[in-house]
Amino acid sequence: MCLECKRYIKEGDSVSQFDSICEVQSDKASVTITSRYDGIIRKLHYNLDEIAYVGKPLVDIEIDASKGVAPEEDVVETPPMSHEEHTHQEIKGHKTLATPAVRRLAMENNIKLSEVVGTGKDNRILKEDILNYLAKQTGAILPPSPKGEIIPPLPKSETMPAAPKDKARKIPLPVSRPLVFSGKDKTEPITGFHKAMVKTMSAALKIPHFGYCDEIDLTQLVQLREELKPLAQIRGVKLSFMPFFIKAASLGLLQYPILNASLDESCQNVTYKASHNIGVAMDTEQGLIVPNVKNVQVCSVFEIASELNRLQALGSAGQLGTNDLTGGTFTLSNIGTIGGTYTKPVILPPEVAIGALGKIQVLPRFNGKGEVFKAQIMNVSWSADHRIIDGATMARFSNLWKSYLENPASMLLDLK
Ligand code: COA
Repeated sequence: MCLECKRYIKEGDSVSQFDSICEVQSDKASVTITSRYDGIIRKLHYNLDEIAYVGKPLVDIEIDASKGVAPEEDVVETPPMSHEEHTHQEIKGHKTLATPAVRRLAMENNIKLSEVVGTGKDNRILKEDILNYLAKQTGAILPPSPKGEIIPPLPKSETMPAAPKDKARKIPLPVSRPLVFSGKDKTEPITGFHKAMVKTMSAALKIPHFGYCDEIDLTQLVQLREELKPLAQIRGVKLSFMPFFIKAASLGLLQYPILNASLDESCQNVTYKASHNIGVAMDTEQGLIVPNVKNVQVCSVFEIASELNRLQALGSAGQLGTNDLTGGTFTLSNIGTIGGTYTKPVILPPEVAIGALGKIQVLPRFNGKGEVFKAQIMNVSWSADHRIIDGATMARFSNLWKSYLENPASMLLDLK
């Protein structure tokens, strides 16, 4: 079952193969269904926001027989909710040459391969062709050439304007929402990602949570990010604080692998995960989702930022696939972008630990000489599965994470 949540066509419309028909959302992912045929939409089987059943007709398409590719049926069926299968469907019968990674990139950016000019051998479409196409559409700045050409820094006036000082503590003002008072109770079904939240959080309730909180002085990191942010911007990537938090967590997990583990259902075995797939809680219009950045242990801070940008773009478009949403091994939740100091984060089983970050605020603190200075302070709240993680381990990990972030230069010693 999946919820039809966005539609691109109406009855009577003409569609071509690979044109988007609608978006459907299950509790795992959100997927765009494309047309398999050229033809005219004759019947829509569901209204918007109705539950569509896998295997049942979604839409009737009248085929133009003169096109010579008359299929045996004139019905597009709802495919299983898998990003990969969707990719496959879109590729089927397509003569364009491109690797699966390039096809995926095109699909994630809603680009039809037939509209892109391939510059590779036999007109193969390369990643750069997609990026160039995208850049032309959006006017975006491209990342540096993979051939190693160095893009000289732009003169100050052409770069992004320097961020004002103390920007980090500026939490957006609460968005005023329309006041709705209907006077009547309203009952609606729990669907999509909310359904997944019911399942996950009910399972999480079985875990005995151990909580640990601390205060982190990010004064140096705030300054460092101010310096690095324009450089990342030139390379087409927005650099927030999260990539540093994520990388520091991964460096800490190398020393405390029990926090990047999972416990089997009968609590007999612990599996230490080789990959640091760090989940990031995201607040989206569809609700809370937690995509993860894969293999952070081998990623640079820039690579993490770039991946986070991709996940955020897909997340806000409601287009994250199953691969991005599964396989997480440890989670960070930056609720501080909205507000708050301490929280009580809930572990996402089968993971065993999670950290939540409060808002960064300028507060008076003492330096080593006993003088008061303006410090950039953030609180962190950890939760760990107390069946296999003791308080001392959580505290030692937190101290290590804190030391990397309070002295960001120290991360260099351990970066590979
Ligand atoms: N305190 C103050 N400012 C912060 C901050 C914090 N803890 N974390 C980030 N910021 C700043 C960023 O630096 C950025 O400022 P900039 O424009 O000067 O660069 C701004 O806030 C917006 O950051 P954002 O674009 O949201 O990126 P991010 O990488 O910091 O955060 C997400 C990405 C996905 C984590 C965030 O958007 C989000 O969804 N947070 C909510 C998570 C949530 O709902 N958790 C609860 C789960 S139950």
